[in-house]
Amino acid sequence: MENQSESQPQERLGRQLILFPLPLQGHISPMLQLANILHSKGFSITIIHTKFNSPNPTNYPHFNFYPISDGLSESQSSPSDVLSLLSLLNQNCIAPFQEALAQLLADKSGDPIACLISDAILYFTAAVAKSFNLPRIVLRTGGVSSFLAFAAFPLLLEKGYIPIQDGRSEEPVVELPPLRVKDLPVIKTSNPEILYELLERMIQETKNSLGLIWNSFEELEEAALTKLRQDFPIPIFPVGPFHKHFTVSSSNLIAVDTSSISWLNEQSPNSVIYVSFGSIAAIEEKEFIEVAWSLANSNLPFLWVVRPGLVRGAEWLEALPKRFLEKLEGRGHIVKWAPQLEVLAHPAVGAFWTHNGWNSTIESICEGVPMICMPCFTDQLVNARYVSHVWKAGLQLENGLDRVNIEQAIKKIMMEKEGEEIRKRVLHLKEKTNLCLEVGGSSFNSVKSMVNYIASL
Ligand code: UDX
Repeated sequence: MENQSESQPQERLGRQLILFPLPLQGHISPMLQLANILHSKGFSITIIHTKFNSPNPTNYPHFNFYPISDGLSESQSSPSDVLSLLSLLNQNCIAPFQEALAQLLADKSGDPIACLISDAILYFTAAVAKSFNLPRIVLRTGGVSSFLAFAAFPLLLEKGYIPIQDGRSEEPVVELPPLRVKDLPVIKTSNPEILYELLERMIQETKNSLGLIWNSFEELEEAALTKLRQDFPIPIFPVGPFHKHFTVSSSNLIAVDTSSISWLNEQSPNSVIYVSFGSIAAIEEKEFIEVAWSLANSNLPFLWVVRPGLVRGAEWLEALPKRFLEKLEGRGHIVKWAPQLEVLAHPAVGAFWTHNGWNSTIESICEGVPMICMPCFTDQLVNARYVSHVWKAGLQLENGLDRVNIEQAIKKIMMEKEGEEIRKRVLHLKEKTNLCLEVGGSSFNSVKSMVNYIASL
């Protein structure tokens, strides 16, 4: 494992890679982290990106950035209807991406281009890359287990598990243990056909790609990786956790509030519950108030990320009970965006109440922080099931967001025997993570294979 803020290439390979991230926080960060890993191995890096959620090039002076038009109107430029956004990006970016590739391939001043690495969800890039005879590799930013559940959608539809019917949510999905019907990676939508089509194309164009890179590692998802290798007979590279290869440069789309760390510095070890539901999920005002009261009633210190847009219909904190924070006399701290990697690594943090986006899940595991799982949609539902029932690194909030329920989960994880056992297991996983990155470890070896493979294309 290297510990430096910017990847310093060991030896230049004289090959250029074009990377194209999906413009959402949980996808941009891992793509840029992967770019750092590849740059450190000697590739030169060009990032094609949309204007929507453009990354900040000044944080990455060692990469070239190539903006393309995404054709999104102002009202479409929001992740609040994430399915429509993903569909639009797959349509609107075809021509601009084509032009960008044509220009980059014609430009003989840079290193020759070895391949395109695109986010799996940007399936349209497959046909465009093919038209230029450009090899295409896929980065899937989520976990392997949830990807297999996505790949099983045709079967799940055929067997009638989805669309999910009332009264069946507790039933086991015998074809995908340990998932229950309610853990299937769906999203509330009036038009599920959009989801099915998106997944079908993502899976198909991943199968057609020349390789598949994961922000995961062998020891964490061994069984899922075995199944994946059977079903996707292409080179597979589990090289995660990406962010542990380097001290990462910032790819935050929202300004980070560093008061999170000064506030944590005042707290006792393992005493704080850190609460964040990621970059897209939204909750109702009623649920927000339950979260607030459960935190207040827990009597424990808490650091809570309330992202603008988290509460449907609210700007920010308007729905909080009057003088909520003042009455807690410093026991609670609320920010719009925290430096999450630093927060999770802080000794004061005792548990992470999370929506189980894959990045948050793997970041928590890397720091040995037990989780309270509150998945909202798609892969988060699968991740939460694996955290609570396979890795046993957290507790899932099962019976709705009411304050009594949540308080019990907080107490269990922070103060009871069950929480202690969970902490031991997650710390054990943290050790495995460290080992996989060391010389000869599984991710270390996968990076080597990935680099050799890409250089041979
Ligand atoms: C989205 C999807 O919702 C999720 O299902 C998928 O797995 C990835 O993309 P997102 O909501 O962005 O997830 O969550 P997550 O994957 O956890 O990524 C959020 C990132 O933002 C993490 O890297 C986290 O460290 C960072 N973050 C979050 C901060 O840096 N500060 C914060 O305050 C909150």
